[in-house]
Formats: sequence, C-alpha cells, structure tokens
Amino acid sequence: MALKRLAIFASGSGSNAEKIAEHFANHSEIEVSLILSNNPQAGVIARARRLHIPVILFDRKTFYETHKVVEILQNEHIDLVVLAGFMMLIPEAMVHAFPNKIVNIHPALLPKYGGKGMYGHFVHEAVVSAQEPESGISIHYVNERYDEGDIIFQVTCPVAATDTPEDVAAKVQVLEHQHYPEVVEKLLSTL
Ligand code: GAR
Repeated sequence: MALKRLAIFASGSGSNAEKIAEHFANHSEIEVSLILSNNPQAGVIARARRLHIPVILFDRKTFYETHKVVEILQNEHIDLVVLAGFMMLIPEAMVHAFPNKIVNIHPALLPKYGGKGMYGHFVHEAVVSAQEPESGISIHYVNERYDEGDIIFQVTCPVAATDTPEDVAAKVQVLEHQHYPEVVEKLLSTL
C-alpha cells in the first residue's frame, strides 16, 4: 500500500503538530511529510527541525495571490492537510483542490466560540466570561469560512466556576494532544 502523506499547517507553538508527528514517527503507512507555516518566528519551526520534517515558509501574498502552496502540496502528493493552530483563512482555490481533505482543530465546542478572531486564548476567555459549564475540542473539515465546515469529532471537559482561561486552555490542550493524532489516523484509513 502506498504511504499516506500528511502536511501540517501551523502558525504558533506547534505542540499539536509535534504530537501528530510523534504519533506517526514509526508508522508503516502514514508519514508527516511537510510542515508549512506563515510565521517565521513560530515555535513549530524548531520542533519540525528536531523531528527532521521539512519546513516550508510562505507569506500572505504567496498564499492568497498565487497557487504556489497548492502546487507544493500537489507535487508532494499530500493526501491530507492538517491545520494545527494555523491562523489564516484557507483560500477558496485550496479548499477546491483538496475537497474534504483539509481538517482543523478548534479549542472549543463549535458552533459556539468560533469564527474570525476566535483563536487561542480569546476562545478560552470567552468561554470563562460566559460561565460555560463545559468546553472541549472540535475537529472539523475546512471550508472557505472560519470554523464552519462539518464537524468530525468533539469531546468535552468540565469548566469549574473558579477556572481561569489558562486553566481551561490546559484542559483543552490535554484533549487536543490525546485525540487529534487518533482522529487523523482514522480519517486517513478511510481515504
Ligand atoms: C490549539 O489550541 C488550537 O486548537 C488552536 O490554537 C492552538 C495551537 O496550539 N487553534 C485555533 O484557535 C484555531 N482557531 P499549538 O501551536 O501548541 O498546537
């Protein structure tokens, strides 16, 4: 069976990217072939180097005004694109080039607390100020709008009345690291 090839897009620290890469490090049928980022300062770059995964950096203009990033993914025979803390909207041409082959993780229970500007700590702050009794993670397909594609997987965690946004972030991160690699593996087995 041909090796299935993943590309991970990340803009920040890259802890999810690293968990996914570690999960597949000794896998016989799946590999993380590429990590792509729009942020030359992103922590994910050092992680990728440590993991010996090639990194591709691109800027906003290249992403939105050329087909270069899509061409790279096609030339590299990427089977699934995994967004892990990637903060840019995916251009329509890329969504069409990879139909149902781009997934994202969101640190809350969509459709609540999603959309433009709802990322990272902003999400957890909103959850705490709304006094939600629970939060969690949503893994979903990506379309041309922020956080609106079909949901593939959700799991919840309790939010205590005394929890700070940092407390919620820590609980959510445990769920992300625990579930994202496995959900990606399951999805790949159906491709
Ligand atoms: C994760 O919590 C992810 O769910 C979130 O960014 C964090 C990235 O952490 N994504 C979003 O908020 C997207 N709207 P990481 O860089 O350590 O993987």
